[in-house]
Amino acid sequence: MRFLSVRLIVSLILGITLVTLGFSWKQVTAQKQGLRSDLERHAEEVADSLANTLEPYVESGSKRQLDRAVQRFESRQQLNGVAVYDKQGTPIAITAGLTDRLPTEPAVAARAMASDRGTGEFVHVGDLLLHVYAVPLHAHDAAVDALVIVHDASYIRVQSAHVWRETFVRVLVQVFLIVLITVLIVRWSIVGPIAQAAQWMRALRTGKGAIPSGVPNLDLLRPLAREMETMAKSLRTARSAAEKEAQLRDAAESIWTADRLSAHVRSRLGDQPLFVVSNREPYAHTRKGKSLEVVVPPSGLVTALEPILYACDGTWIAHGSGDADREVVDKHDRLRVPPDDPRYTLRRVWLSKEQEEGYYFGFANEGLWPLCHIAHARPIFRASDWEHYREVNQRFADTVLEEMADTERPLLLAQDYHFALLPRLVKKKRPDARVAIFWHIPWPTAEMFSICPYQRELMDGLLGADLVGFHIQQHCNNFLESVDRTLESRVDWERFAVTREEHRTVVKPFPISVQFGEPSAEDDHLNAYDDRVALLRELGVSASLLGVGVDRVDYTKGILERFLAVERLLERYPAYRGKFAFIQIGAPSRTHIKRYHDLLGEVEVEADRINWRFQEGSWKPIILLKWQHSHREIQRYYRVADICLVTSLHDGMNLVAKEFVAARTDEQGVLILSQFTGAARELRDALIVNPYDTEQLAESLRFALEMPAEERQARMRRMRKSIKENNVYRWAANLITELSDLRVASTDSERPSENWNSVA
Ligand code: G6P
Repeated sequence: MRFLSVRLIVSLILGITLVTLGFSWKQVTAQKQGLRSDLERHAEEVADSLANTLEPYVESGSKRQLDRAVQRFESRQQLNGVAVYDKQGTPIAITAGLTDRLPTEPAVAARAMASDRGTGEFVHVGDLLLHVYAVPLHAHDAAVDALVIVHDASYIRVQSAHVWRETFVRVLVQVFLIVLITVLIVRWSIVGPIAQAAQWMRALRTGKGAIPSGVPNLDLLRPLAREMETMAKSLRTARSAAEKEAQLRDAAESIWTADRLSAHVRSRLGDQPLFVVSNREPYAHTRKGKSLEVVVPPSGLVTALEPILYACDGTWIAHGSGDADREVVDKHDRLRVPPDDPRYTLRRVWLSKEQEEGYYFGFANEGLWPLCHIAHARPIFRASDWEHYREVNQRFADTVLEEMADTERPLLLAQDYHFALLPRLVKKKRPDARVAIFWHIPWPTAEMFSICPYQRELMDGLLGADLVGFHIQQHCNNFLESVDRTLESRVDWERFAVTREEHRTVVKPFPISVQFGEPSAEDDHLNAYDDRVALLRELGVSASLLGVGVDRVDYTKGILERFLAVERLLERYPAYRGKFAFIQIGAPSRTHIKRYHDLLGEVEVEADRINWRFQEGSWKPIILLKWQHSHREIQRYYRVADICLVTSLHDGMNLVAKEFVAARTDEQGVLILSQFTGAARELRDALIVNPYDTEQLAESLRFALEMPAEERQARMRRMRKSIKENNVYRWAANLITELSDLRVASTDSERPSENWNSVA
């Protein structure tokens, strides 16, 4: 640092000196020029006036009068001498002493006579600087003699030297002051913060001593501070992942982590490029006043797929639905995400209002959604919605193909019921691509599926994929039966695969899951009881026992059914009145659809009805929070609740159940879980219920509230172990492993295996 300061100071001194000297030189030169011009003008005036006096004597040939007039001028200020020369260069009249300085006729005299004009020049004589000016003297209109005026110009040199001296002193003082001020500024604003930053980074690197949570205030170096913050975050994550890995190795466990998944993906895929397609984008940009906000949808999908995309710097293609999405993409509609630590590419696809209406709200959510969920909502199939669905699938397929254009053997993970037609569209153009589609919702029975007017097209589209994934085996079975009834194909029930037109599609269950974090230091500080008191105070409610439900307000989630169970509990067991409260977090969803819009109202009316019936003072049985909560906010409810109620009428998996278990680092809380969720197959220690059976549901609430602490802990511990081992990273790893292991029939030599067992 000291070496740096010396270099800095020397450079400053040199720089300032050179600049100041440059300016001074210009100033001195200008001043010198000014003095010279003044002198020249003065000499001209003197010469003109003397010439007027002398010309009559020249005309008359009176040398004596001429000489006398010349001598009279000798005493003039700064005038060094006056002389008159004839054409031969002989002095006709000359002031005393001038002969010594100008022993011969000055050149300007002859030039003045020859040109018949006044001429001047500066000449050096010994140490002296003289200005010699000559004008012609006329007789009978002819220049016959020359009058020479000599001035001593040495004072110009003296004055210039004086200016230089002054400049020198000024430069000295300036340099001193500027260097002093700069050094102080550098010390305060740069060296100090850098030293602080270095100390902070050393603490971070060595992991010794307390690492301050925020980066130091780096003042001018704010952009650097931001980068440091990100780097620190990555380092902390990497370090804790490494520690966790080491612990796991030590315990000989094989738990999947984001890092392990990344390493696995890299070793599996090598340089094969990866593409993901989903309807929802992982990051949406919205405008809030003048600033842009990044919104991450509260979806498990982002958590699961991001580590894969990180590992191979993949591309995620999704509908750009944020109102400011177009403002941040490049000319190819791409941007790098996550915005504060870019690791992969997001390619946004734009849809018109009509397309979104027909494809998303219409066919996907009013057609396929009720078709696949047994929730007694009638699917609506409009021909115009179907047209939009086809159009949008084609649009996404074209985008995928465009993104894949310069790649070899790409992998595509398509997500969900929005893209049933896309696998075929992609595969037709890129047979070398490995294509998987994961269906996140249930697959209905073959009878139910057969009501869909577009069943053949949907099936054909899906069978374009090399791999079709569902959450549970039951959905795979339903799917294969539907294939069997819908299309000409060979179903291999032993290997769970379909062969159609020489293309083979493997159908497998991959139960999706959640992240499973170990209890953090933050958890240790959390006291569930205190936090529950604080939370209830914030909500303005008093209760000593708490249940929670977290759902999109969707008719498949059984929200009304669980309200009825709460009502029944209070009817049958009045002791819980004033004590037990149920908080329902209900995020409004797909509200452009009438069924969803009506449901929002129905849920509110039902909660009001039950509350009106039972509420006393500041207690009421149902607290309905009808807005989207962040993942972090929801964690708080999970942690303070005695019970989590998941009463879906039908659900592919249901991640709320798993999130609740993952959040309970205290190994407390009871999960009540619908038997119609995929999660019920794994979480056998939940209280498994039929949400249509209000009596049973009310009883299970009482059972949960009265369950001994040891039993609660034992059940929760077992469920946590199951989710820890089968977390979301394992889901992603299994999907990638299966897909990368598949043989792709892109060449004749790679025809599908004939070793199948057809029931067709
Ligand atoms: C279901 C689907 C997901 C979807 C989610 C939210 O779980 O399987 O693909 O993202 O609902 O629905 P939304 O329509 O808001 O994306």
